[in-house]
Amino acid sequence: MVTVDAEEIAKFERIAHEWWEPEGKFKLLHQINPLRVGYICRQLTGSEQGDLSGLKIVDIGCGGGILSEALDHRGASVVGIDRSETIIKAAQAHQQESGSQVLYRVQAAEALAAQRPHSFDVVLAMEVLEHVPDVEAFIAQCAALLKPQGLFFFATLNRTVQAWMAAIVGGEYLLRWLPRGTHAYGKFIRPSELDQHLRRVEIHLRDLQGMTYQPLSNRFQLSRNTNINYLGFGQRA
Ligand SMILES: C[S@@+](CC[C@H](N)C(=O)[O-])C[C@H]1O[C@@H](n2cnc3c(N)ncnc32)[C@H](O)[C@@H]1O
Repeated sequence: MVTVDAEEIAKFERIAHEWWEPEGKFKLLHQINPLRVGYICRQLTGSEQGDLSGLKIVDIGCGGGILSEALDHRGASVVGIDRSETIIKAAQAHQQESGSQVLYRVQAAEALAAQRPHSFDVVLAMEVLEHVPDVEAFIAQCAALLKPQGLFFFATLNRTVQAWMAAIVGGEYLLRWLPRGTHAYGKFIRPSELDQHLRRVEIHLRDLQGMTYQPLSNRFQLSRNTNINYLGFGQRA
């Protein structure tokens, strides 16, 4: 079990009770969720409103299930895994209200890969790569879960001064959206580094876009600016 950092998980456990509060500590995830759901659906079906029925998706580091539930509502068969029992309980508690069919489990990616190798059409690692101790090993486990030609979606933070200013200085110290220490600058990932990790496991990068905050509309939009938050996907050989 090399792909987990217990202190990283503990940071999220301490605020897990706020997971589904739109103005709580996970406000940012709520804000970006429509954008990333639309992006994923467009890549998979050609339409942002597309029907995902028949697709098997695993959401690794699913947290409280904000993204898992949205994809379940679009018809996908979703497995959500996280390393924290507290966090998975928060996801399951919300599921009682929402009625989603997501199958939540406290499990490591490597354990699921051993049980169900190459069995998912889509693997998601959204806002989790910057919290794992060994990104290369983690991505290798993600690849082991993917069917041939399957798609790997990721979203993370670039290692730039702008990202440090926005995510750490702005998000943790000034706006206090997240507790101080949630992010470690050294764990932010340059797109070129991510591309190298993907290539090693025969995932070919297909798209990369910035997710940029627009203060006037108070919304995030896709953009060419990948200096802070970015998302994208690759396809397994
Ligand atoms: C910022 S939250 C993102 C949640 C979700 N992916 C989303 O975008 O809505 C990060 C999550 O990753 C989980 N996590 C951190 N390290 C992990 C690991 N090695 N394996 C699985 N999950 C992990 C944490 O427990 C937390 O729930």
